[in-house]
Amino acid sequence: MTVTAGLDVSAPAEAGERIAVPRHVAVIMDGNGRWAVSRGLPRTEGHRAGVTALRRTVKHAARRGVEVLTIFSFSSENWSRPAAEVGFLMALLERFVRRDLAEIHRQNVRVRMIGERSGLEPSILSLIEEGENLTRDNTGMTLVVAFNYGARNEMVRAMRALAEDVAAGRIAPAAVDEAAIAARLDTASLPDPDLVIRTSGEQRLSNFLLWQSAYSEFYFPDLHWPDFDEAAFDRAIEAYSARDRRFGGLSAKVAR
Ligand code: IPE
Ligand code: IPE
Ligand code: MG
Repeated sequence: MTVTAGLDVSAPAEAGERIAVPRHVAVIMDGNGRWAVSRGLPRTEGHRAGVTALRRTVKHAARRGVEVLTIFSFSSENWSRPAAEVGFLMALLERFVRRDLAEIHRQNVRVRMIGERSGLEPSILSLIEEGENLTRDNTGMTLVVAFNYGARNEMVRAMRALAEDVAAGRIAPAAVDEAAIAARLDTASLPDPDLVIRTSGEQRLSNFLLWQSAYSEFYFPDLHWPDFDEAAFDRAIEAYSARDRRFGGLSAKVAR
């Protein structure tokens, strides 16, 4: 098989078939709690196993030639969970950065956080900034960590910034267009996600990338996040590759 991007592709496909690797893959890593409970374990063990799945996904996505991998790690609504679970998730993130940042840097991956920064614990914020600063000049895959992220919150902050620019006369109301809004979102300058994967069987966005996923393809594997592995990632890429993206126009096959 041939791929349009990436190296070392061994995803199953007919010989000679071209696999189109999405530039930007966004993942809603869901089902950690159910994975654990179905094994008689506390939910926190599911989150721990989820970190292992995250590690292998980062490595594999980069190997496949994905340019941007966005992961939904903690939503602005997840604060409503029991304090003990929230505390565990915060500690897990801290530990992930401390343990894995050097390896991520070694893989030439650039890290960027999206989500609301104000109100975060200073210790967490400084770790995130350390990750961004250390990897700023890397030229490989960009790993976007959606942390304390909610799309409506992101859009509110963008609209507020825009309103301030209009009020100060820096931009005329008539000049407000899609680009002016996109440039004020946390994802400014990133391509829109081509493929959004949500594990665990739920088929909803849960306030993830509402603006950016206007024309994304969606894929819902019947696996909890801790069971998501390289083969599952390749199946997602294959499914994406078979989709006919029309963006409101006509199929490339028809238009030809
Ligand atoms: C995803 O797994 C991780 C986070 C939301 C932080 P969940 O914790 O949502 O697991 P389920 O959906 O309850 O099984
Ligand atoms: C979305 O999952 C958030 C993350 C994966 C971080 P949730 O488990 O919080 O979403 P709902 O509550 O099922 O919609
Ligand atoms: Mg969930």
